[in-house]
Amino acid sequence: MMKKSCILFTAIAVWMLTCVVCHAQNSNDTTGRKWWKEAVVYQIYPRSFKDNNGDGIGDLKGIISKLDYIKSLGVDVVWLNPIYGSPNDDNGYDVSDYRDIMKDFGTMDDFDTLLKGMHARGLKLVMDLVVNHSSDEHEWFKQSRSSRNNPYREYYHWWNAEQGKPPYRYSLFDVNHDAWRYDSLTNAYYLHYFSRKQPDLNWENPKLRNEVYGIMKFWADKGIDGFRLDAFQFAAKDTTFPGFPKGFEKNFTQYYAMQGNLHGYLQEMNREVLSKYNVMSVAEGAGNTFEDAHNLVDADRKELNMAYAFEGADIAKPEGYSVIHLKQVFTKWDSAFAANGWLSVFLANHDQARLISRYGNDKPEFRELSSKMLTTFLMTMRGTPYYYNGDELGMTNAGFTTIDDYRDVQTLNEYQRQKNIGGDIPKYLQRIAFESRDNGRTPFQWNADKNAGFTTGTPWIKVNGNYKTINAARQEKDKNSPLNYFRRIVKLRKDNLALVYGKYTLLDAQNPDAYAYTRELNGKKLLVMLNFRDKPVNTETGIDINKANVLMGNYEHPSKDGKLLPYEAVVYELN
Ligand code: GLC
Ligand code: CA
Repeated sequence: MMKKSCILFTAIAVWMLTCVVCHAQNSNDTTGRKWWKEAVVYQIYPRSFKDNNGDGIGDLKGIISKLDYIKSLGVDVVWLNPIYGSPNDDNGYDVSDYRDIMKDFGTMDDFDTLLKGMHARGLKLVMDLVVNHSSDEHEWFKQSRSSRNNPYREYYHWWNAEQGKPPYRYSLFDVNHDAWRYDSLTNAYYLHYFSRKQPDLNWENPKLRNEVYGIMKFWADKGIDGFRLDAFQFAAKDTTFPGFPKGFEKNFTQYYAMQGNLHGYLQEMNREVLSKYNVMSVAEGAGNTFEDAHNLVDADRKELNMAYAFEGADIAKPEGYSVIHLKQVFTKWDSAFAANGWLSVFLANHDQARLISRYGNDKPEFRELSSKMLTTFLMTMRGTPYYYNGDELGMTNAGFTTIDDYRDVQTLNEYQRQKNIGGDIPKYLQRIAFESRDNGRTPFQWNADKNAGFTTGTPWIKVNGNYKTINAARQEKDKNSPLNYFRRIVKLRKDNLALVYGKYTLLDAQNPDAYAYTRELNGKKLLVMLNFRDKPVNTETGIDINKANVLMGNYEHPSKDGKLLPYEAVVYELN
């Protein structure tokens, strides 16, 4: 007979073993299935998607009129850039009323109709929550700046001028890169990491935090399905504002991200709001290390659902990029999150120039091929794909050559700064032609009508000159268009859980031109092969592709021998 202690010992050993086994399996099985892991997120930039009333600005009624299109893509979740009351210094990222809809975009009734229309089609809605800062036209800030004794004073960061100049803080959007703005009304400086019209909120103040939770509940009670927390990694600050070393701004996230009690605030937000609703949550930016990213999203910490880290999306440079580097970055992030946590997968958004102009090839002969290749990549990696509107058509950079065509506060303020410091203006114009955020913000190209069918009025930003060739109407009719390819590969992902949860293994790692990997789950094994070059390349995967079954490819006769044609993409089923 077994002694009691022995039984206990055995039980503990079995329990421990089970834990080890289930932990090890976590990486590539489906025990932790969640809707937000299996979703494909489609990002809509409302200002540029569809104008319904002819004022040249996209609006909610415009989006409503395109819900069937969105549904037809096969995506599950729409992430909407901010649509709240805003004076639009930064296209809605400067919120003056968190419980209202921007006049340009419509009314709360329009919003309710939009949400209902989405839910009726089985689409979920993720809202952008901009609470690292507000607009300087928000009532809180008006109060805050009115006197040093105002109850709202502590909603923001102030530095009284009699203390001298505050220690330098870098601003991403300021004309002088200076994040402190002097306000004579109370003889004090306020902090703005972004533009002067975007003062940073004081997260160290519990009253402010409660206001934000109230706002979140307001939208969650309306039935929205998630929050994307804008610039949130910067929200907590050391309010003694110690001096930073000279030149810190070159690596400012090391000093700004994940400071102070940020994780404490997220745990509080989770307790107060997120845990009470069936919502997904993602913060923009994931700090400086894997540890930072894990601290945000590991399930046992009860903070957020998934990390949105920039390393992969920051690789492309005007002079090109190394495919080996790209593979290394995506591979190391995948392995760091294989057992715990969950990632977003993306290469583009509203803060980047266009996907194919940066990562692919926007020349006419390679545009469609490289667009499909990049789409294949995004839809076959582990993590939740975030796909930016217009990329399904292979929309390209704007081609602006004069500063008058640009609208973005960051681009324009930096232009002014370059002028002030006697910078090289032609060089700056070249730089923004490649990287300005406005490249990704030109109107969605619906058809070959005037203004690409986006508006009957004058668009707030110029339509890309190539809209007669690149537009949705034309691509609807072509079964091989990037648009229809996108629909097919989204479906392929939905039909193959291996593409969501399956173990990822990089092959032919040192190949400088091609990216090959397998995804494996419960005995099912898929192989993805991608050529990132405009010439044929060879791959050495060690897999006999000849017997493999082709599931998807962007050429009529997909490679069967490991030789890939320019920008070829193939997904095979092995075994
Ligand atoms: C985020 C947004 C960006 C905005 C900035 C300030 O980075 O994505 O568009 O300008 O925050 O809110
Ligand atoms: Ca409009």
